[in-house]
Amino acid sequence: MSDYIEPQNPIGTVSELFAGVGGFRIGLSRSGWKTSFSNQWEPSTKTQHASSVYSARFGDEGHTNEDIAVVLDEYISGKRVIPKTTMVVGGFPCQDYSVAKTLSSSAGLKGKKGVLWWEILRLVEANRPPIVFLENVDRLLKSPASQRGRDFAIMLASMSDAGYFVEWRVINAAEYGFPQRRKRVFIVAKDVSVFGRPQISEPATFLDSESTIAKALPVKSIPTGSLVSEFQLEGDLSELTANFDLGGKFSPFKKCGYMVNRHVFTSDVSAAEQNLGSLGSVLLPDEEVPSEYFVSEEQLPNWKYLKGAKREERTHKASGTKYFYAEGSMAFPDLQSNPSRTILTGEGGSSASRFKHIIQTKDGRFRRLVPIELERLNGFPDNWTSTGNNGEIISDVKRAFFMGNALVVGVVERIGKQLADDWSLVNV
Ligand SMILES: C[S@@+](CC[C@H](N)C(=O)[O-])C[C@H]1O[C@@H](n2cnc3c(N)ncnc32)[C@H](O)[C@@H]1O
Repeated sequence: MSDYIEPQNPIGTVSELFAGVGGFRIGLSRSGWKTSFSNQWEPSTKTQHASSVYSARFGDEGHTNEDIAVVLDEYISGKRVIPKTTMVVGGFPCQDYSVAKTLSSSAGLKGKKGVLWWEILRLVEANRPPIVFLENVDRLLKSPASQRGRDFAIMLASMSDAGYFVEWRVINAAEYGFPQRRKRVFIVAKDVSVFGRPQISEPATFLDSESTIAKALPVKSIPTGSLVSEFQLEGDLSELTANFDLGGKFSPFKKCGYMVNRHVFTSDVSAAEQNLGSLGSVLLPDEEVPSEYFVSEEQLPNWKYLKGAKREERTHKASGTKYFYAEGSMAFPDLQSNPSRTILTGEGGSSASRFKHIIQTKDGRFRRLVPIELERLNGFPDNWTSTGNNGEIISDVKRAFFMGNALVVGVVERIGKQLADDWSLVNV
């Protein structure tokens, strides 16, 4: 756990929202950034385990454990201080960002209460960080089903209206040598009044070699003049809510893109590196794994059934209608020579499951992954989540939940390094 070192001569400062157990902070500290403000609050539980782990590892200074909406209300009304930092970062929930017409007013359009994108935007508007760096599930680019891509369009338009240039890319961490297949969209926004308008001669070249994310995580070249589509985000946020991609079957947002002055350029792209990491590289010796992680002979058929292909007749509980349920098979056991599948929040606990990882040991037994192995799959230091700020032991189920919510810190580190270079060019 001693792997965390706060940079002594930081390149700049960071506010970490939706901090969880600090994945952004670890990755950014390794690329020279110092986090001076953080917020983490779990609405669904009384005990605040993630925040407790966060302050145990990083200390309490600058950390808040309250609903971000309340913290910002107090900040904006002058009752508390949130420091201005070079960057605002966070991995926030993918929700419905729609805006109702009636909310249109001179004070600006504001989304529904409890929708956390609007909290990020409030802090961005109040503190005007030169850089905003966000992470989300890739579904953000496609939601909602009735208007594919509308929520991302609203997000981009609101950042454009706030004076930011935005780029994004869907990154599968496994393609860059990390041991987990984890596909997430990373979004970098820069204040145009600080960085200037980006000088882009050719959209394909910008996307495959000049953007911050392409420099950090190289991609194969996009043939000039092809594959990039472009469109304008028209109307205010309520008009975008009502009209964006109505009836469209596919989101217009592809795997990477950028937006300047509400004009979007987007393309599909693939990683230049195919340097796959492996699940096997994070495993503890079997003799260090507690016995409860091994699957008993009695439980094994249940695991095999859940992981296996099936087509079976089932009855709908409410209506009594009969239907066929079918699904394909999952790898069983998980291949140690390949990157792992994505860790989900339900990874912990001994009950059999289709989605939890199971490996086979050299002596032929089957076992689940222990918390340290899950931490390693995300690039966290060993035992990062083992205790809270009063020394309390965090349960293995919670530790797995944290890792299901977290991110691959090495991806943040690589983008953080490029952002450090970008920032040093304007911060002279
Ligand atoms: C996807 S997780 C981010 C995980 C983080 N990047 C990490 O490395 O652990 C989102 C976090 O937002 C927190 N959250 C949800 N609603 C919140 C709110 N209203 N205020 C503050 N934090 C909130 C959740 O408890 C969760 O830890």
